[in-house]
Amino acid sequence: MTALWNRLQDHRKGQGSTPIEALFDANRATDFRVQTDGLTFDYSKTMIDAGARDLLLELAAPVAARRDAMFAGEKINETEGRAVLHTALRNLEGSVTVDGQDVMPGVRETHARMTRFASQVRDGSFAGQGGRITDVVNIGIGGSDLGPAMAVLAMASYHDGPRTHFVSNVDGADIADTLKGMDPATTLVIVASKTFTTIETMTNAQTARDWMAASVTDPGAQFVALSTAAAKAADFGIAAERVFGFEDWVGGRYSVWGPIGLSLMLAVGPEAFDQFLAGGAAMDAHFRTAAPAQNLPVMLALTGIWHHQICGYPTRAVLPYDNRLMRLPAYLQQLEMESNGKRVAMDGSDLPVVSGPVVWGEPGTNGQHAFYQLIHQGTMPVPCEFILAARGHEPDLAHHHILLAANCLAQSEALMRGRSLDEARALMEAKGLEGVELDRQARHRVFPGNRPSTTLLMEQLTPFALGQIVALYEQRVFVEGVILGINSFDQWGVELGKELALKVEPLLKGQDAPCHDASTNALAALIRQMRG
Ligand code: F6P
Repeated sequence: MTALWNRLQDHRKGQGSTPIEALFDANRATDFRVQTDGLTFDYSKTMIDAGARDLLLELAAPVAARRDAMFAGEKINETEGRAVLHTALRNLEGSVTVDGQDVMPGVRETHARMTRFASQVRDGSFAGQGGRITDVVNIGIGGSDLGPAMAVLAMASYHDGPRTHFVSNVDGADIADTLKGMDPATTLVIVASKTFTTIETMTNAQTARDWMAASVTDPGAQFVALSTAAAKAADFGIAAERVFGFEDWVGGRYSVWGPIGLSLMLAVGPEAFDQFLAGGAAMDAHFRTAAPAQNLPVMLALTGIWHHQICGYPTRAVLPYDNRLMRLPAYLQQLEMESNGKRVAMDGSDLPVVSGPVVWGEPGTNGQHAFYQLIHQGTMPVPCEFILAARGHEPDLAHHHILLAANCLAQSEALMRGRSLDEARALMEAKGLEGVELDRQARHRVFPGNRPSTTLLMEQLTPFALGQIVALYEQRVFVEGVILGINSFDQWGVELGKELALKVEPLLKGQDAPCHDASTNALAALIRQMRG
């Protein structure tokens, strides 16, 4: 493997300062793209040439066996001794065996219970003390928040259920702002936590219950739990018929497809939710069968590896030209950085290359008026992943959508082509500048160009397309993880801070003597003093 990494590095060096534009022949725009089920991934505006692609595809050689092991229910999450089967939540057909048992009957039963419950809430046959449920509050954090929050916003044009709200932060401002003005008697609270022990979620759940208990006789009756820990949900006072369980082979950040997606099902209805699942299942089928060079998750992953591990660009911007995908970058931050932000390989050895990149982003066109300056003229290239739908959901506002799409394409063109000094000088001359001032001003208007970007194009942001996109990114993370030799399904890096927070808390309450590092002790003392 190391030899292959070296060959890729050499290939990159051999490209010298060739601009991306020079790679375009008559066929590149169609040869360097992958399509499936209405989705197109264009990676032609990158420095990946035919030679680089061949080498990258060699890197992907171990993926097929690992992928088949994952779908077969083998315990590929080796550091936690678990199977990885979120894929089973979106393909309800067939059977998958874990520890000698077919897990699919259980998956189908839970899905059927969710469907019944969501239908009852939506048609009013399940009501609160004050009548029909008007508001749903999902309390969760990380994967128990980001997936459903991202998907509910993405599907806003399909939303015909109760209003849906999300509370995640332990900062009391989050729940206070959310519950303000809401009627407890017509509110349904969902406590979403795989473990049912996460301190932020349990603190918020208790606050929500106290809020409801102040005016509702049986607050527990308006609570739902989504968890692998049914007994803990029962201890919290939530009746078994409103506990929707799942198994430990569903990772938190991969869990939107099952019970953790209940808020989405309530918002858009079971039929649209099933379309979302169908999109995910279609992407899985493509991932399992398409040849690597025509495989969307594989090529998306290889493009990421090329930019980060080979070209050395430290970050990756995800830029959806779709306001309803506003939360997608945050969702992808957890998916990608919690999965592949690791320094040792599965076998405990140091990674031979750097781990996953920093992922960030905001929707276009907003970002254009904020941080694109750096993307165009900063000293460090930022590979950009544009996401765009050909059609919006507002037929009366089609002219908005054309402008949106024009901006998206214009940005990727501008990044690649840039503007030369001669072009900048001509512009300044046309404005009447001359001499030293012309030279000085022209230099500020040069765009170096040759900055890579990819474009993911869909027909329209439907539930099916959203399912495809989410599954695409999940499988991309999987492919990158396999190539790096990482276990993408554990998250030990979140533990230390959690443990220390429990020890700092008594210090802030004045119940413990300073026993931390000098800076932490001093800051805690200052906080206590400020709080009086
Ligand atoms: O702290 C990280 C994490 O474990 C994530 O992986 C997970 O999505 C989140 O916390 C929430 O966990 P839970 O669903 O168990 O409350």
